[in-house]
Amino acid sequence: MGREVRAGLSRPPRSISPKYFYDAEGSKLFDAICDLPEYYVTRSERALLEEHADSIVGLAGARALVEIGSGMARKTALLTKALCDRNASPIYIPFDIAPEAIDESARVLLDSHPRLRVRGVVGDFGHDFGRLAIHAPPADGTRLFAFLGSTIGNLDEEAAPALLRSISAIMVPADRFLLGIDLVKDSSLLNAAYNDAQGVTAAFNKNVLRVLARELDGEIDEAAFEHLAFYNEPLQRIEMHLVSARAQTMTLRAADLRIELAAGERILTEISRKFTRASTERTLAGGGMELLEWIPDALGMFALCVARKAVLRKA
Ligand code: SAH
Ligand code: AVI
Repeated sequence: MGREVRAGLSRPPRSISPKYFYDAEGSKLFDAICDLPEYYVTRSERALLEEHADSIVGLAGARALVEIGSGMARKTALLTKALCDRNASPIYIPFDIAPEAIDESARVLLDSHPRLRVRGVVGDFGHDFGRLAIHAPPADGTRLFAFLGSTIGNLDEEAAPALLRSISAIMVPADRFLLGIDLVKDSSLLNAAYNDAQGVTAAFNKNVLRVLARELDGEIDEAAFEHLAFYNEPLQRIEMHLVSARAQTMTLRAADLRIELAAGERILTEISRKFTRASTERTLAGGGMELLEWIPDALGMFALCVARKAVLRKA
């Protein structure tokens, strides 16, 4: 963490990986974001899952659900219910960087699905896919891999296909991949979703400063930073920054880092890319997958995609 944070903060444009948002407090703050009136993402995806989860699990013939970036697994019960209705010994494998979120979500799911077996895997989807391959083997039966909430949008043009390649590398042809995708839309809706009136998104953004100070032995004055989020239309992405409100020094001893921030200087903490069907298909293709089903909602807010590992055709 020290090396990665130092690399991101010491050269321009300064950045912090969004994966550091999700300590116990950050996972709770994200959960609160999901209930905000402005944050349509969770509600839109839930509505699509309410309508389609059963047929998606049924068509996949899945016995195991492997969820990447599962978090509090708020919408997962819609999929695990379908899994339990169709299988005598269903398996759920959440994979997340936040152990607290896996623990809490597993308890909730087990309460409502006593037959479900849960095998949580803690790891970074950037480099711990080997762990998932071991804990979610094809011997578990046909698997539905799910990556919900449009978390894929938090990865850039290189990291997103790279992650999909890690997933397709452990898939067999019968497995299916379910992806939640936030769609390009009117910028006023997007700007509101990341600038909520209650300031929960601002608190989520600033929480990363607490994580850095705690984990990397530093002192950071949270009050000296402001939340900034806006839709970058040409790049079709939300950018979330922390803006230094005054000239200040940031010290993180365990990262061997001491930087001078000018007043108004920005640190990029997250991108949240928005997609069209075409850009989704390109991303899937770059990850060794092909789209089978594109399921947008009626308002064009969000889409579910079902994909499979791309079949290699002989030249
Ligand atoms: N899937 C849930 C949660 C989305 S929030 C939903 O749709 O609501 C993003 C989740 O991805 C968080 O739980 C976070 O801990 C996890 N995450 C972020 N970066 C990660 C990484 N590099 N490796 C593993 N999990 C990560
Ligand atoms: C997890 N991820 C898809 C969220 C998003 O919308 O990009 C994280 C988030 N950041 C601010 N609000 C929500």
